Amino acid sequence: MQTISSIKNSKNREKLVMITAYDALFAALFSDKADMILVGDSLNMSHNRAIDTLSISMDMMIYHTKSVCKGAPNSFVVTDMPFGTYFNEKEALENSARVYQETNSNAVKLEGGRGKAHIVEALTRNSIAVVGHIGLMPQFARSEGGFKVKGKDEKSIQRLIDDAKAIEDAGAFCIVLEGVKEDAGKAVSEVVNVPIIGIGAGRYTDGQVLVWSDMLGFFEDFQPKFVKRYLNGADLVRDAVAQYAKEVREGLFPSPEFTY
Ligand code: KIV
Repeated sequence: MQTISSIKNSKNREKLVMITAYDALFAALFSDKADMILVGDSLNMSHNRAIDTLSISMDMMIYHTKSVCKGAPNSFVVTDMPFGTYFNEKEALENSARVYQETNSNAVKLEGGRGKAHIVEALTRNSIAVVGHIGLMPQFARSEGGFKVKGKDEKSIQRLIDDAKAIEDAGAFCIVLEGVKEDAGKAVSEVVNVPIIGIGAGRYTDGQVLVWSDMLGFFEDFQPKFVKRYLNGADLVRDAVAQYAKEVREGLFPSPEFTY
């Protein structure tokens, strides 16, 4: 199992693999293949069909984290802090303490750069391990008017570098960098000492993360450019259920072998 030290030490040595999971069933399947499992608030969109991640609650994240930890007891698990649960240090401490007290999660992840460095600092000072998240931050999508790719010019790249350095200095042991041009992904990865886990951040980051239901083809509402589909999960499921329905209707299931 990875630890905070082994994750930090992987910088410039080996690429880190992170994948999301939302329940025990799939967490168990991913456990020995990925270095970290993220209980992402993306589950609100992928599993709850919400328009964005904002409406998920702390209770829901705790529920799903418990399930993931049950399915993958030997994995390094990271829990997303939902929107509105870390507006100030007190709330952030109370809510992230719940993650540690009520689940076996190893770390929390929160979105924000320089503006959230004081929160990252407050958590790490109190022994709560933090993964940062900068670049395209889905929790900012409503206020920014959509999911906007970052790092398109020098000024924007410099802002990302400042964000990454600020949360590294505040104690984050690794940082997710989402939705940025490849040059930005490279520049940010080169200037900080903690691993940068990219999602839509190009080839030069220290690792990658994908949302499981995107990469396995279960989520079909839209497909971001950076998502490679390794499986056509939805098609496989639809075909299998159609076959089951057909066999039931035709009296072919259950056949004698499935009968007591
Ligand atoms: O919620 C999530 O799944 C995430 C990933 C996109 C990194 O934050």
